[in-house]
Amino acid sequence: MTKEKILVIGASGQIGVELTLALRKIYGEQNVIASDLREQNPLLQGSGPYVSLDVMNKEMLHVQVIRQGVKQIYLLAAILSATGEKNPALAWHLNTQGLLNVLDIAKEEKLSKVYWPSSIAVFGPTSPKRSCPQKTIIEPTTVYGISKYAGEFWCNYYFNKYGVDIRSLRYPGLISYKSAPGGGTTDYAIEIFQAALEHSHYTSFLEKNTYLPMMYIPDAIRATIELMEAPKDKIRERTSYNLAAISFSPEEIAAEIRKHIPGFNISYKTDYRQAIADSWPQSIDDSAARNDWGWQHEYDLSAITKDMLGNLHAKFEMQTEAQASYQI
Ligand code: NAD
Ligand code: SER
Repeated sequence: MTKEKILVIGASGQIGVELTLALRKIYGEQNVIASDLREQNPLLQGSGPYVSLDVMNKEMLHVQVIRQGVKQIYLLAAILSATGEKNPALAWHLNTQGLLNVLDIAKEEKLSKVYWPSSIAVFGPTSPKRSCPQKTIIEPTTVYGISKYAGEFWCNYYFNKYGVDIRSLRYPGLISYKSAPGGGTTDYAIEIFQAALEHSHYTSFLEKNTYLPMMYIPDAIRATIELMEAPKDKIRERTSYNLAAISFSPEEIAAEIRKHIPGFNISYKTDYRQAIADSWPQSIDDSAARNDWGWQHEYDLSAITKDMLGNLHAKFEMQTEAQASYQI
C-alpha cells in the first residue's frame, strides 16, 4: 500500500474533513497534508500536518508540492451549485483555473495520481431524468455544471496527452454531519436533520416531490479511496464516473425522520434552487463504476436517517421537546 505524500486541497470543507481523516487512517498521519484557504477545521487539529494554501496561487502551490515531496493531490476546492449562481464568474474561475493549476503541476512534477470530483450537476434538462447513463446528452444550465463538464474534459485531455493519472467521480448530493455543507442544492437533505432535532419542523426550499440522487458520506469516502486504489487498467473512464446510491424526495426523507421523531413536520417554500434541482436527473446509472472497479453502496435512506439523527443528537446534546420524543 502506498506511503506517498498526499496533499488534500480544500480539506476544511464538507468532504475534505472526512476524506483527510480517512486517508490519514490508511496512509499515516504524517503522509497526508491538509490544506485550505480558510483556517483548519477543528476536527483536523492534532491529526496531522496542515498548510494554508490558495489553489489559485499556482506558484505557491508548486513550491509546496516540491517542498513537501507531494506525489498525490486530492483537489476539493470549488464553489458549489447554489453559491455558484450568485457569483458565476468566481465559480467558473475557481472551478476551472484551480483544476488547471493542479493538472499543470501534476504534469510537471510527474505526480503519481490526482483526484478531482465532478458532480451530477454536469447533467442538464435534456439528459434522461431516470437512470441517467454514463454517456448521454449533457447540456448543463448552471455555471457549476458547466465548470464541472469542462473540468471533466480537461482531465481527459491531461490523461491522454500527458499521461496524468487523474481519476474522478460524479458525486451525487452528499449527506453528512461532521462538517457543514458548502452551498449546494442538495444541502436541504442535511439541514432537515438538524431542524428536526431542534424544532421538529423544517421548511424545504425544494418541492415535496423533487427527487435527487443522494449518498451518505461514508459511502462517498469509500468510493473515492477505492477508485484511487484501483489498478490503473481498471479505470476506463477518464472524464468522470457516474456514482450512485439512492434517490429520494423531501417528502420521503420527512416520512423517514417521522419514524424517529413522530411530531416532525415539513413545509415547502421554494426558491431559485428549485430550478437547479429540476435541471438534474432524479437517479443515476452507475453500472460503469460497478463493472470497472467494483463499486457498491451500503447505506439506504433508513440507515442514513438513523445514523444522522443518532450522531447529531449526540453531537449537540440538545434537550428540546423533539429530542425528548426522539427514538433510534
Ligand atoms: P465545501 O465548500 O464544503 O469545501 C470546499 C473547500 O475548499 C472549503 O473548505 C473552502 O474553504 C476551500 N477553498 C475554496 N477556495 C479555495 C482556494 N482558492 N484554495 C484552497 N481552498 C479553497 O465543498 P465540498 O462539499 O467539500 O465539495 C468538495 C468537492 O466535491 C467540490 O469539487 C464539489 O464540487 C464536489 N462535490 C460535492 C458534492 C456535495 O454534495 N458536497 C457533490 C458533488 C460534488
Ligand atoms: N451537492 C452538490 C450541489 O448541490 C452537487 O454537486 O451543488
